[in-house]
Amino acid sequence: MDSSRQSFLVRNDFLIRRLHSLCGLIPVGAYMVVHLIVNASVINGAATFQNNVLNIHKLGALLPLVEWTFIFIPILFHAIFGFVIIAGGMPNTHNYPYAANYRYTLQRATGVIAFFFIMLHVFHMHGWIHNESWLHYVVEPLGGGQFRPYNATSTAGEALQNVVVVVLYAVGITACVYHLANGLWTMGITWGVWTSPRAQRRASYVCGAFGLLLMGVSAAALFGIRAAVDDPAKLRQVRAQEDLMIQTKIATGEVQENSHKVADPLPTEGDAPAAGGESETSAAAN
Ligand code: HEM
Repeated sequence: MDSSRQSFLVRNDFLIRRLHSLCGLIPVGAYMVVHLIVNASVINGAATFQNNVLNIHKLGALLPLVEWTFIFIPILFHAIFGFVIIAGGMPNTHNYPYAANYRYTLQRATGVIAFFFIMLHVFHMHGWIHNESWLHYVVEPLGGGQFRPYNATSTAGEALQNVVVVVLYAVGITACVYHLANGLWTMGITWGVWTSPRAQRRASYVCGAFGLLLMGVSAAALFGIRAAVDDPAKLRQVRAQEDLMIQTKIATGEVQENSHKVADPLPTEGDAPAAGGESETSAAAN
């Protein structure tokens, strides 16, 4: 039984490896780049980010199909065969240059970190699946499912206020970016694009520059979203702006009404903790 499974992997080694490699770039890597750029668009203001998120949600009922076909299934495929490769379940026919051994190890380590980070991130923002009981009894008590697409900046920003969460995201995103940038370089070897040591060295610089650029985009996304609502006044202002945008777009039929995509209203100012309320009142009186 086990040997037939083994022989399936061995027999189809070439095809599986090529699909695994291709999948890392298209659609997974391409999606990751677009996702980070859309998130970083928050540095242009909460309205820009909200508009970009709404453009994605205009797909309506098609969105889950598109997400599963072009994002979740390819990531799962790449991750499952990534773990098989790491576990040595497939012959290692790749001969990377000797000096690049540490990068070979880091590629595997960052793949594993990326897997756990992506699972955590999708749980934290979306709660994995949108089943009422699952969301109510499991996701919400564990602090997951915090993102609401119709209040994109305010809900994502609130979810990123905790310093531990920011550190986890910074580590996870750095691992993903390294994995993609170094993966581009190993892809060039897999597909025979750069074969001589000289060409591989040049490709290293290009992939390194791409990684640094994407790291900058990632930092803008993470810290931009967090900073957009890092005090109660900003949060209220952003939330009011988002609510107005959504009402307008629903009225014009640009987006569809959907209570699951809207955040719970913020507590009214009268509900604020007494100490904060007092100091604000006395500051105003002074
Ligand atoms: C952010 C999501 C991910 C992206 C964008 C991505 C992208 C890539 C790319 C472009 C490659 C290079 C393929 C090649 O060398 O031909 C690669 C390789 C690899 N990936 Fe991923 N990957 C992701 C997530 C994962 C996950 C979750 C795992 C699970 C452990 C994983 C495991 C691997 C492994 C083991 C390799 C090396 C394959 C080899 O050397 O033959 N990746 N990845």
